[in-house]
Amino acid sequence: MKILVTGGAGFIGSHVADAYVEAGHEVLVVDNLSGGDPRNVHPRARFFKLDITDPAFEELVLLERPEVINHHAAQISVPFSVEDPHEDARVNVLGTLRLLQAAVRAGVRKVIFASTGGAIYGDVEAPVPEEHPPNPQSPYALSKLTGEMYIRWFGETHGLAFTILRYANVYGPRQVPHGEAGVVAIFLEALLAGKVPTIYAYPDTPDGMFRDYVFVEDVVNANLLALSGGDGETLNIATGRTVSTGELYRTLVTVLREEGISLPEGADSPPRGPARPGDLKRSVLLPARARKVLRWEPRTSLREGLRRTLSHVQVHHRSGTG
Ligand SMILES: NC(=O)c1ccc[n+]([C@@H]2O[C@H](COP(=O)([O-])OP(=O)(O)OC[C@H]3O[C@@H](n4cnc5c(N)ncnc54)[C@H](O)[C@@H]3O)[C@@H](O)[C@H]2O)c1
Repeated sequence: MKILVTGGAGFIGSHVADAYVEAGHEVLVVDNLSGGDPRNVHPRARFFKLDITDPAFEELVLLERPEVINHHAAQISVPFSVEDPHEDARVNVLGTLRLLQAAVRAGVRKVIFASTGGAIYGDVEAPVPEEHPPNPQSPYALSKLTGEMYIRWFGETHGLAFTILRYANVYGPRQVPHGEAGVVAIFLEALLAGKVPTIYAYPDTPDGMFRDYVFVEDVVNANLLALSGGDGETLNIATGRTVSTGELYRTLVTVLREEGISLPEGADSPPRGPARPGDLKRSVLLPARARKVLRWEPRTSLREGLRRTLSHVQVHHRSGTG
């Protein structure tokens, strides 16, 4: 089928576009390259350097009439959204609206939307199911939640099929340090550069914040399954496993040692720093519904995912490509 992937030069979107190409689909990638890298775009995908808020994007959708639009383009930084909520909403709300209007006009069958569990549920005590009431605590969380609500409205009003995927903290090759699971890229970059990173913590969570780290390939599988299933659903894409920043760091150190990489002095006792304002203490999502509806499974352990992320970084550091 013909699929248009927005944000397809970015971290997650490029892996999704790759998988669609490899599955035999005709893939169009739209990205304004504000955060993405054209080297991430599969050579067999058609690339359009376009902004989703631009009328030219709507024209492209009308001209190409894809069967599915997979929507990953977004303003992804929580701190930026706090600094400039208007710009965040312009991309994440108005950009998504433009996409939905274009989709209806072009007769697109389905929209798959990359949303965020972490930001939408806010601080939570235990792994949360999708029914948990939203508690958006940043303009980014508000704009993604608003995007979800518009998608539902378009679904109900115009019969546009959709699946909303609420990701936990996604990590893996091609990750940028400033996204939601940027800590993996930050730790890896620091340790490979011979520096020991700081672990941010609250007084009552001395081993850092609790998160749910899901490997990008597992996220890609959910996007493949959503092509033919999960219509009308909002689904957590997560492991359900609680991992502290400290545990993440120690697992990474173990993986680096196993791969024979020498670590800087003090790597076993990283300094602690105070959590930054707004850092959620705990964000872990229950993936039971995605298991049931999509028959999706988070297959990659944290250790294996970190090992694969590292080997990608090593190959690309050597060859100088992204
Ligand atoms: N990384 C995570 O852990 C995580 C968690 C939850 C949700 N998400 C969501 O997944 C999606 C992808 O995130 P990512 O981590 O891969 O980030 P990313 O920055 O690598 O990807 C976003 C892409 O969108 C492009 N883009 C931004 N604004 C655009 C615009 N106006 N027009 C066209 N293209 C534009 C960027 O150039 C970039 O390539 C986002 O929607 C994000 O909200 C990510």
